[in-house]
Amino acid sequence: MAWTERREGWTDEDVASDYDARRFAGPMQRRKHANDARLVRGLLARVGAGLHVLDAPTGTGRMVQDLLAAGHRVTGIDLSEPMLHQALQSPGAGPNAGGFRGFLSGEIERLPFRDDAFDAVISLRFLFHAKDPEVRARLLAEFHRVSPWMIGHVRSRENLKHAGRWLRSHAGLSRRYRPAQGRRELASELASCGWRLVESTPVSRVFSDKVLFLAQRSAT
Ligand SMILES: C[S@@+](CC[C@H](N)C(=O)[O-])C[C@H]1O[C@@H](n2cnc3c(N)ncnc32)[C@H](O)[C@@H]1O
Repeated sequence: MAWTERREGWTDEDVASDYDARRFAGPMQRRKHANDARLVRGLLARVGAGLHVLDAPTGTGRMVQDLLAAGHRVTGIDLSEPMLHQALQSPGAGPNAGGFRGFLSGEIERLPFRDDAFDAVISLRFLFHAKDPEVRARLLAEFHRVSPWMIGHVRSRENLKHAGRWLRSHAGLSRRYRPAQGRRELASELASCGWRLVESTPVSRVFSDKVLFLAQRSAT
């Protein structure tokens, strides 16, 4: 799907109101979400405690409650008003939640924040949708400007799920091949935008091709 089409999808009321139910409501999906949250908490613990975290894009704010419970402060940003509307309905977010710093409607390729406004940026289920290298470079540069640390989600080639996909697409059994990166390729892409890859953790060795990575702004 083209990038502009995908972006339009996310701003659709029906897509937004269905988003969590389709992705995170079943027992397996709830486990997937809990696993993402656990891994993100673990990576953030390497950065420090009581961090101000930018969730970019926040979508329906699925990570917010968990990050607040872990003692972090959270600001969320997303271009989709319907997604933000869903985020505001989620328990634990909202103006009264301690540590919650607000949801903003905005473009994350041009973040409306001053330099170094945050301790860490998290960007989940997003970079692997942004396949255009120029878009990814703009995102990585903006995250780098506002924060010394980032956590992102990418698709990795180094797992069974990817091998299966690759085989099926090369045998003509599937039309859909999702491009993915090896660790060295990811490290090199990050380095070209001023980041040092600190750690990458597979979401699951068997059931997922996604990897969560922690990167630190390189010394200049
Ligand atoms: C797949 S969702 C991921 C949301 C969330 N991080 C999660 O893990 O569920 C992608 C989100 O990115 C938002 N988005 C896409 N392009 C954006 C941009 N350039 N600026 C801000 N938000 C954007 C969409 O509105 C959508 O809510």
